[in-house]
Amino acid sequence: MKLLSTLLLASGLMAASFAHAAVDADAAQALLKKSDCFKCHAIDKKKDGPPYKEVAKKYKGKADAEDKLTKHITLSPMVEIDGKKEEHKSIKSKDAGEIKNVVQWILSL
Ligand code: HEC
Repeated sequence: MKLLSTLLLASGLMAASFAHAAVDADAAQALLKKSDCFKCHAIDKKKDGPPYKEVAKKYKGKADAEDKLTKHITLSPMVEIDGKKEEHKSIKSKDAGEIKNVVQWILSL
């Protein structure tokens, strides 16, 4: 019995850590919505900005993908829209975990 409960406890802990590592798609999309990102981006349609699926494809397998995207959505780099340069919008969050979740969600598409 002791072994059984140890096993149950171990699998429970594993499930909890997997849940923690998984991307929270709903939270990611809610934050993108709140930050007006969908004004220029859709998941798989081109708007003023590239679709997130295309971004995921572009960065697939690149070790610095998370770092690059995090900088892109937090440091307001200049981007060109219809031939006009403007500052890219920043994500409306200062929480590193929330930002990471958004970046990982985009990369998972
Ligand atoms: C006014 C329009 C506009 C808004 C609003 C906007 N973007 Fe963008 N975004 C662009 C454009 C244009 C590009 C392409 C830039 C380039 O390739 O030089 C881009 C590129 C990106 C990329 C790809 C960067 C790369 O290195 O390939 C990501 C990721 C991204 N945006 C995320 C976001 C997020 C997150 C938000 C909300 C905080 C957001 N965008 C809001 C226009 C916008």
